[in-house]
Amino acid sequence: MKYTSSTTAVPDTPNVPRHVAIIMDGNGRWATKRFLPRVAGHVKGVEAVRAVVEACARRGVEYLTLFAFSSENWRRPEEEVSLLMRLFVTALDREVSKLHANNIRLKVVGDLSRFDAKLQTMIASAERRTAANTRMTVTVCANYGGRWDIMQAVGKMVAGHPGAAAFSEEQLAPHLAMAYAPEPDLFIRTGGEQRISNFLMWQLAYTELYFTDTYWPDFSAASLDEAIASYQHRERRFGRTGAQLANKTT
Ligand code: IPE
Ligand code: IPE
Ligand code: MG
Repeated sequence: MKYTSSTTAVPDTPNVPRHVAIIMDGNGRWATKRFLPRVAGHVKGVEAVRAVVEACARRGVEYLTLFAFSSENWRRPEEEVSLLMRLFVTALDREVSKLHANNIRLKVVGDLSRFDAKLQTMIASAERRTAANTRMTVTVCANYGGRWDIMQAVGKMVAGHPGAAAFSEEQLAPHLAMAYAPEPDLFIRTGGEQRISNFLMWQLAYTELYFTDTYWPDFSAASLDEAIASYQHRERRFGRTGAQLANKTT
């Protein structure tokens, strides 16, 4: 797909968001509230992922992007980090066949070099296996950071351009880790915090933002519908006036 940029051209505003990007937050608090270890929240969180993948596919969402592990999550206690890694391995093991059977493509983006070799191999083989699937693309952002993404894209952009050169947005964007997807229409963050936490810094430029107090393990198809309904009431102006939109002029 050719990369389209909301700042270069006014994009379409689909009724069902083409691309939904989610910060799945609140697993730890969900568990703590129930006097359970934090890991129980992460385990439950994987179930919520399954439900939301299915709900998005049924509703015709084309790209679902899930923030699973940020470049700053290494700062957590070693025990929690290694547990999250094991959970990632188990989830890949169990879920990839189902995704494939449902014609869903899986992509994992982030600095994967920091993961152990086994996990990297599993990711590569899951991506290869599902590469030709067309119903929906699920992207898992793992060891992802918005700033990492911009910096790695800049590195690729300037490679082969010795000396000073002037670059444009259009030259940078194709090097971003998710250049295969349109910019998100709808961003969802569960867990009550109202921040971006170094998620898709570049791509969220004109995304509609939706924050909910619901902890991720409790997020369901009905919660997704509430978020989509809120999205459907927004006026996406992309810098223009409301009157311009009413007149359908661009
Ligand atoms: C999100 O839930 C999952 C990851 C960051 C891996 P948290 O683990 O951040 O849950 P809270 O925010 O502590 O409740
Ligand atoms: C953001 O959640 C990252 C993921 C959900 C993977 P965090 O829980 O790490 O964010 P902060 O630390 O509250 O900003
Ligand atoms: Mg959190």
